[in-house]
Amino acid sequence: MLHVITTDIFDRTLLDDLCRLTTITRRIARTPDGLRFLQQLLPVRRAMLYFTQPSTRTYLSMNNACHILGVRTSEIRNPDVSSEFKGETFEDSIRTFAAYVDLIIMRTPQPGYAARAADLMGDMNRRVPVINAGSGKDQHPTQALLDIYTLERNFQKTGGIEGKTIAMMGDLKRGRTVRSLCRLLRHYKDTRLVFIAAPGFEMEPDILACLDADKVSYEQSDRLEDFLPSVDAIYVTRMQTEHDTSGESARVDLSKYSIGAAQIEHMKKEAVILHPLPRGPEIHPEIDSDPRAVYWQQERNGLWIRVALIACILEASDQIISAQSKFL
Ligand code: NCD
Repeated sequence: MLHVITTDIFDRTLLDDLCRLTTITRRIARTPDGLRFLQQLLPVRRAMLYFTQPSTRTYLSMNNACHILGVRTSEIRNPDVSSEFKGETFEDSIRTFAAYVDLIIMRTPQPGYAARAADLMGDMNRRVPVINAGSGKDQHPTQALLDIYTLERNFQKTGGIEGKTIAMMGDLKRGRTVRSLCRLLRHYKDTRLVFIAAPGFEMEPDILACLDADKVSYEQSDRLEDFLPSVDAIYVTRMQTEHDTSGESARVDLSKYSIGAAQIEHMKKEAVILHPLPRGPEIHPEIDSDPRAVYWQQERNGLWIRVALIACILEASDQIISAQSKFL
């Protein structure tokens, strides 16, 4: 695996392998000796975090994932303090990062930039891997990986993701997390998807076409109450107000697309509620301590799957797998 730009590089085998590696890694990390072992895996490697769009979880988990493996990091989070401010092109900035580091992790407000960075590497002597940490409204592949891992862990005792009914609710039109997650869920047999969105915020046709092509069954609705009793998981998202052109988010009656004590009462006892965070009013904090609310667990899973992913890209995964017997 060189670059992680879209979810398309992941097939079912790779997803299963990555989930397994994540669980092994976090188990090794339970003891100080295990943590020291992980930290000496990649101490001579350096990564660049180029995040020109707001981020808390993805930035911090990527940064800490690097540190857990001993990878040193540098960052640009504000293009106003880089040479882009002086008019340097995106391509020239990427070339510069590639001259100094061994891995580029990037998030941009525009779609397609991570792909442009990866393409550029094709012409360079130092082909530095690029990880897309969120590209505009389009893709967020590492979030989709941690979502898959969270679903798999929670469905461990009930046969995994296959055959489950998974609802996605909120701003499906402009949310990159749900778009990327749909693309990964195609790899799980007999999964049924339900898209719950206010008119104007429905899932885009390109994703529906992709599900049609793989014969994934899905339904679209604006009535959460019809689906609460039957879903095995509901993935809730916030309104992506930063993409508004005329205050359209504010015109949605969010009470119809929210989960609180009244809604959770109708859900199955073993169902799970996910959210990529940050949340808005669509998830009431009153349900945070319900065992079905797994979004804080999901956030933590993001750290460990990113450790596993970076270990794969920088070729340390075999060492982790062989160390299992020593630490577990
Ligand atoms: C998401 C994102 O940035 O797309 N956040 C995240 O990475 N956890 C979701 C969002 O901002 O709504």
